[in-house]
Amino acid sequence: MLITIDGPSGVGKGTVARAVSSKLNFNYLDSGAMYRALALYADLNNIKENDDLKLKKLLIDIHIQFVTDEEGEDRVFLNTDDVTEDIRTNEISILASKYAGIELVRNVLREMQKRLVKNKNYVTEGRDMGTYVFPEADYKFYLDADPMVRADRRALQLTETLGMKFKTEKILDEINQRDTLDKTRKICPLHPADDAIIIDTTDLSVNDVVNNVIERIV
Ligand code: DC
Repeated sequence: MLITIDGPSGVGKGTVARAVSSKLNFNYLDSGAMYRALALYADLNNIKENDDLKLKKLLIDIHIQFVTDEEGEDRVFLNTDDVTEDIRTNEISILASKYAGIELVRNVLREMQKRLVKNKNYVTEGRDMGTYVFPEADYKFYLDADPMVRADRRALQLTETLGMKFKTEKILDEINQRDTLDKTRKICPLHPADDAIIIDTTDLSVNDVVNNVIERIV
């Protein structure tokens, strides 16, 4: 069975998708982490978005892996390096959104995502899971929330993962910037699938959303 959860930045897709996958004992795919890892690799190797030749080489060289460590934590590996924390910075967020607008990048990552999920039970989370990558999914959800609430949630998450304080106003600016990039790009823009169940999470707790999703499935 395949369940997709899409939505804009900071809406809590990751937290919800992880919780749903763990309750159902399904695998979990964070597709955004793949865009982030790719952006980090490009950044470290000084590859610009418009450098077609270097970008093609990058897509051949890059190997992204999801590994669960001994404590049960999901780790993201870029080739041999654990980049779980490095891909969560604000700079990489914006850069990932830029690379996500490149057709070649999307084509390669889409194939990787399809290969990963094949013949397994999965909850996948991202921007285009139910629309362009897995239109055949069994259940599709689209989470949305007021941008200010999303900025607050993102600030809290960044503080928890990176251990630093962040200004909500700055994060709100970045969320608005990413919303525009993700929703207006020519290839696979962010929007709900026609058959997606839309949940406005503005006034809901994580538990409410998780229960809402599970109720629709079982
Ligand atoms: O979900 P996230 O914030 O980790 O995603 C980072 C960026 O990657 C996001 O701004 C847009 C892009 N992305 C995408 O275009 N398609 C996906 N399925 C997942 C992420």
